[in-house]
Amino acid sequence: MSVPGPASTPTPAPELRARFEAAGGKSAYVQRMFGRIARVYDLMNHLMTAGLDRRWRDATARRVALDPGGHGLDIGTGTGDLAIALARVSAPDARVIGVDFTPEMLAFGREKLRRLGLMDRVELRQGDGERLAFDEDSFDACCSAFVVRNMSDLRQGFAEMLRVTKPGGRVACLEMSHPPSPIFGAAFHLYFDRVVPLLGRLIGRAFDAYSYLPTSVSTFPDAPHLKRIMEEAGWREVTYDYRAGGVVAIHVGVKPTD
Ligand SMILES: C[S@@+](CC[C@H](N)C(=O)[O-])C[C@H]1O[C@@H](n2cnc3c(N)ncnc32)[C@H](O)[C@@H]1O
Repeated sequence: MSVPGPASTPTPAPELRARFEAAGGKSAYVQRMFGRIARVYDLMNHLMTAGLDRRWRDATARRVALDPGGHGLDIGTGTGDLAIALARVSAPDARVIGVDFTPEMLAFGREKLRRLGLMDRVELRQGDGERLAFDEDSFDACCSAFVVRNMSDLRQGFAEMLRVTKPGGRVACLEMSHPPSPIFGAAFHLYFDRVVPLLGRLIGRAFDAYSYLPTSVSTFPDAPHLKRIMEEAGWREVTYDYRAGGVVAIHVGVKPTD
């Protein structure tokens, strides 16, 4: 995939544009969709990725592990898995806040935190990642997993993460990507475009939601392009590495101190 310039939030595929318009916008569509699938979300993730999603979140969390007294923010926390992973790799007195705009996802997340006895280390709040209700320089690190692809304005999302992160603080972003190998990429797309929506229909009675997934990835920037978007939002020292042959990428960056 070539890198167009200037880097910007990609235009959604035409079939998605129609769905967003019918729902009253992309945010409304995404929120409603996650509200419907919240019950099966964790199970579907583990099934679709054969359990690799946990390892990817752990690797992402390690990039932004918090020192004693540190504060971290997980954007689009959903059922809280990345926030939990971050708390677990951080100093015991570090605190993590997870923000998400879908109340149903947060409800399952809070239940999980109670079950795991992590309520004192991780707090889940309802809020919009593109308009964060936090002062600037509030957090030592920000992270997200499988979220920025769903944002209405990707650049605004990264700009908000930058605003609330302290100078010298870090960001880590785990997101679907595009395998650089054409052969592996074709095999992956066959699975992702055909099998995943069927799994969604069988397990969650949610064919629509799980057909959104491959379509949303098809127009999402590749890893070098996403790096540029983060740099244009103000992040520095941005690097990325692929997991599972490029099915996902983890981007990391630092907020400048000057
Ligand atoms: C694919 S889920 C990822 C959940 C979680 N991060 C994980 O690793 O499983 C995407 C989540 O992002 C949330 N989301 C998408 N855009 C958002 C935004 N602008 N503000 C807050 N939450 C958002 C959705 O509600 C959903 O819970």
